[in-house]
Formats: sequence, C-alpha cells, structure tokens
Amino acid sequence: HTCTMDVERQRICDVKGVPLISSMHEIFGRVEKFQAKADDILIATYPKAGTTWMIEIMDSIRQGGITKEITTIPSHERTPFLELISFCFGVSSGVDLLKDMPSPRLVKTHLPFQLVPQSFWDKGCKVIYVARNAKDILVSYFFFHKITPILPHAGTWDDFFESFLSGNVVWGSWFDHVTGWWDVREKHQILYVFYEDILQDPMREVERVARFLGHTLDNGTIQEIVKHTSFNMMKDNPMTNFSRMPTCIVDVRISPFMRKGQVGDWKNHFTVAQNQRFEEEYRRRMAKTSLRFRTEL
Ligand code: A3P
Repeated sequence: HTCTMDVERQRICDVKGVPLISSMHEIFGRVEKFQAKADDILIATYPKAGTTWMIEIMDSIRQGGITKEITTIPSHERTPFLELISFCFGVSSGVDLLKDMPSPRLVKTHLPFQLVPQSFWDKGCKVIYVARNAKDILVSYFFFHKITPILPHAGTWDDFFESFLSGNVVWGSWFDHVTGWWDVREKHQILYVFYEDILQDPMREVERVARFLGHTLDNGTIQEIVKHTSFNMMKDNPMTNFSRMPTCIVDVRISPFMRKGQVGDWKNHFTVAQNQRFEEEYRRRMAKTSLRFRTEL
C-alpha cells in the first residue's frame, strides 16, 4: 500500500464556518447531496474520540459476532468515510465507495452536526456519537498529525495546543462539536457514548450499543466482542490497526495508529501552565452545557 505519488499537506479551508482540509472543501457539494438510506447507520465523532473502536464494536454487533468479514476486510473498507476524497491510487472517495456498497451501510464521519447531509435526518437514520475528553483528544490528535500526510503540519506541541484551543484545527472546535451533537441528541435517533465509559465498562457499553441498534446478543457473544475490540487485540489486528491503510492517508510506519488507548495520558504532555490555561478556557466554553467529561478514571 505504499503510494506512488506524494500527497501534499493540505491547507485548512472554511466550509460553512468549519475548518476542513482544502480537498474536502472542493467536494463538499457532493457530500451535502449524499442520499442516505433509512437503514444506514452513521458513526459520528470528533477525530481521535475512538471512532475506529466504535466501528469495530458496531460492525461486530450487527454481524452477530466476529465473522469472516470482520477478520478479513480492513475496517476502512467496511465503513466508508463520508467526507474523505480520493487522495491517491487505491483510495476511492467516501461517497463513491458508498454508492457501490450493499445495505445496510455503516458510514463514518467527523462532521459537526450542522454539516451532516440532511438526508440522514429525513430518513431517520440511527447515529452513534462517540465523545472523548478534550485533553486526551488534544494529545492524540497532535500525534496523529505526524502520521497523516493529508493533514496540515501540527507545528510544535505548544503551537498545536493553541490551535486546538482556538478551534483552528481540521474539523473545527472540539467544544462546538461535542456540544452541538449533545444538544440535538434527543431530537433524532442519536446514541451519545463516552470513550471513558467504554474503557471503564465495555460489557455495559457494548450492550447499550446493541440495544440501540436493535440487536439482542447473548452474554458469550458480547464477551467475544469485548475481547475482539480490546486495545491490545485491535493494536495487533491488521484489519483495525491501519497497517492496511494506504500510506498516503495514514502512515503507521512512522508510529502506530493504536498509540496508548488510555484515559489521562494528557498528564504526560500538558505543562502546569497549559493545564491552567486549558481549564480556564474549558470553564468559559462549557459554562452553559450539561455535558460532562472525565479526564481520569
Ligand atoms: P490514543 O492516541 O490516545 O492512543 P480514532 O479512531 O477516533 O481516530 O481514535 C483513535 C484513538 O482511539 C487513539 O487514542 C487509539 O489508540 C484509541 N483506540 C483505538 N482503539 C481502541 C481500543 N480498542 N481501546 C481503547 N482505545 C482505542
């Protein structure tokens, strides 16, 4: 999967008030017009919230366990990424992949609520939103920029820290993203799940997701799914650890996609001053919401 052409690092472009990469800006008209089907299931997240983890959980649930499809097809081929464009040879855009995909389809997006194609709401699709605390996301997203040639340069840790707080990163402000989805969770069929909760009690959360998707699984199958989707299993599984992803999109030769998989790694990266600054901004930005996160377990 080594790419034959260099992919230039992309500029950030404004799409209806949300910073995305320039190529997504170019194809956004097609994304907006995407025609969802009633049995499509959308997995929506801010980047680094545990998207890949939830995809594996959802796909295992709907297939009733760890089937051959799950063990032989890379995750990114089973779940097209809605706003991803065709960057290089061997990668189709999300919209093109979805066109040829049999139903029921699993669709991945990092779009904030207001940019999700209207047809998902018109058709009453089920949506799972995974949210993760901002401090761990910030660290994870910083490292992810290093292995993702299509994202802009992150700059230094201090640079990225400021970009993140100001919302000047791809897919925009974490604050707007998590609160935007939180505010509409009861207006649509949206299940709002926390990364920290899955890590703390995977059995309970897998069961909750299964119930939401309308599946009843026996205890043994749930246990099997929890085991298959544990960090250590997914880290070593070529179908989930991004080693089958074309390197023009994610290059795990630089460092692994499955990095730490913990709650609280931010403590190894935030300075005392940064933590204070972060807390102040956090209080200001989250003052009006009932949404609460845990930054340690
Ligand atoms: P870290 O960089 O903190 O390790 P996404 O899929 O949304 O890009 O999220 C990636 C983050 O989720 C990474 O976080 C990755 O290690 C973590 N992750 C992936 N699978 C996981 C699992 N099974 N258990 C816990 N964390 C997982």
